[in-house]
Amino acid sequence: MSDKNNKIPFNEDNYTHNIERNNERKLDRRGFMKTLVGAAGVFAVSSLPWGAVAAKELMGLGEKEYPHKKITEVSKLPIGDAVEFKFPGDHDDAILIRLSENKYVAYQNACTHLRCPVFWVKEQGEMICPCHHGKFNVETGAPTAGPPRRPLPEIQVNVENGAIYAVRVKRYEA
Ligand code: FES
Repeated sequence: MSDKNNKIPFNEDNYTHNIERNNERKLDRRGFMKTLVGAAGVFAVSSLPWGAVAAKELMGLGEKEYPHKKITEVSKLPIGDAVEFKFPGDHDDAILIRLSENKYVAYQNACTHLRCPVFWVKEQGEMICPCHHGKFNVETGAPTAGPPRRPLPEIQVNVENGAIYAVRVKRYEA
């Protein structure tokens, strides 16, 4: 306890101590303004077009190029056959299908419904997801039956010196 409290009347205490209230109020107001400015800032950031950025990414307008990855030799993939590979990461399952002498298509083969692996069924000429009977058009990756609504992400491939390389992923291109 300070000795000031032992004096009567207190040095700085009197019945007009309420006068300090103005200052307190000013502080309050300043604090309030700070909060208001902070809230406005949060609102401004939250209203930035993140949705548009995400949509652009999802619509495939932002194509991604990765280090080229050799999938297989042309001579090892007969027309009509498919081979599975990983791209762009070691955990990203993908499938390459040779449709004709010089036509190849490749997709990330996690089903766009619930990510079951999608298979190439040569006899039916379709890509099939066994989990819920989803089907995809092999030429475009677009869903043709079952619950999937989005196309399989396409992987662009290049043929160089008798080998087939994965080059980039086209995300959800419609
Ligand atoms: S996970 Fe492929 S159809 Fe459901």
